[in-house]
Amino acid sequence: MPAVVLVGAQWGDEGKGKATDLLGGDVDYVVRYQGGNNAGHTVVIGDQKYALHLLPTGVLSPDVVPVIGNGVVIDPGVLLSEIDGLAARGIDSDRLLISANAHLIMPHHKAIDKVSERFLGKAKIGTTGRGIGPAYGDKIYRVGIRVQDLLDPGILGQKIEAALAEKNQILTKIYNRRGLEAAKVLDEYLGYAERLRPHITDTSLVLSKALDEGKVVLLEGGQGTLLDIDHGTYPFVTSSSPTSGGACAGSGIPPNRLTRVIGILKAYTTRVGSGPFPTELLDEQGEWLRQTGGEYGVTTGRNRRCGWFDAVIARYATRINGVTDFFLTKLDVLSGLERIPVCVAYDVDGTRHEEIPMTQTEFHHATPIYEELPGWQEDISSAKTFDDLPPNAQSYVKALEKMSGAPISAIGVGPGRTQTLQIRSLL
Ligand code: IMP
Repeated sequence: MPAVVLVGAQWGDEGKGKATDLLGGDVDYVVRYQGGNNAGHTVVIGDQKYALHLLPTGVLSPDVVPVIGNGVVIDPGVLLSEIDGLAARGIDSDRLLISANAHLIMPHHKAIDKVSERFLGKAKIGTTGRGIGPAYGDKIYRVGIRVQDLLDPGILGQKIEAALAEKNQILTKIYNRRGLEAAKVLDEYLGYAERLRPHITDTSLVLSKALDEGKVVLLEGGQGTLLDIDHGTYPFVTSSSPTSGGACAGSGIPPNRLTRVIGILKAYTTRVGSGPFPTELLDEQGEWLRQTGGEYGVTTGRNRRCGWFDAVIARYATRINGVTDFFLTKLDVLSGLERIPVCVAYDVDGTRHEEIPMTQTEFHHATPIYEELPGWQEDISSAKTFDDLPPNAQSYVKALEKMSGAPISAIGVGPGRTQTLQIRSLL
């Protein structure tokens, strides 16, 4: 009954899609457990590139059941257009299961996400503007509208009316925007209900039975550890729990059924949006990483902020998630450097910190203490095994493994499906 969690070990965009895809052939269910269409997974199959936002990557493998768990917030219009986009490329999503308990992103959530960011000015979080925070806010405030409400038009109508009675006041009186019409929103969402109805089910029950039958369940997080609402760089975080604990809450699979936690770790670091990032490079070296690594957001197209590998963050991810294995991605991007700096600790106002400092203020003051590792000049994108890597690339991987505190069990050396070196099985 393996239940394996895949979690981003940094600020997201570590290349989780590639890891999911690697496991795809051995997996029966792929479950998204948090986030929404703020995420972006890129999967390259042959000469085809797929960018998924809300659908679990399992949708690309015909033998896998893709599941959207209760912890996800769903924009139904986006979900259906993603389903239609795949259908146009010959990929069907009929197997998709959606938790009846997942929450819906409503038009007022998107409107409020955008205007509240504008209102924050310089203090903005840099959200994706997809309504994620406001939808989770309503969930926690216990006024959210859930997928199961789509199945009862009377209830759906009442809930939309009640929500807009308040949200329209906020939109018009605080933000000076136009309010939304409840009847129009109801009409739109009843249209979605018709199409989504066959997919809606009690997904925690389905997953529990699947594990009883010995099926392999992969729990796929969006974003990453440092964007976690509790364990990330609050308030510059997303509004859910990408960390492994969130996989249980967001799927209904209990902690004692999890068998492996795989941290996805990029060979350098990136971040989108605002917030502290000690190893960020604001010079031409950062631009080089961005261009060489293709570090532009899948969801918003924004430039990703780029910097060197940060071992303090990696160690933290190991501790918070209970990482059993790391999948190191994008090692090929670092080819051609003479020396590669790696952050081993922080200097915070003259004091050395081996761990992330306790307070936000200290973290904002953290500057990296670097160790330099020798680089390699060879193109490694066609390496098939660890031994094919040049000695300095092998040493870089081993150094990262030692600093991060968990074994590196797979290494990505290019975007393609076959460009992965597997050192140990991930199941
Ligand atoms: P939100 O999730 O749209 O509310 O955005 C909150 C923060 O999380 C912002 O800094 C976003 O840039 C960041 N974020 C959200 N989703 C992703 C992702 O998939 N990759 C990287 N950053 C993300």
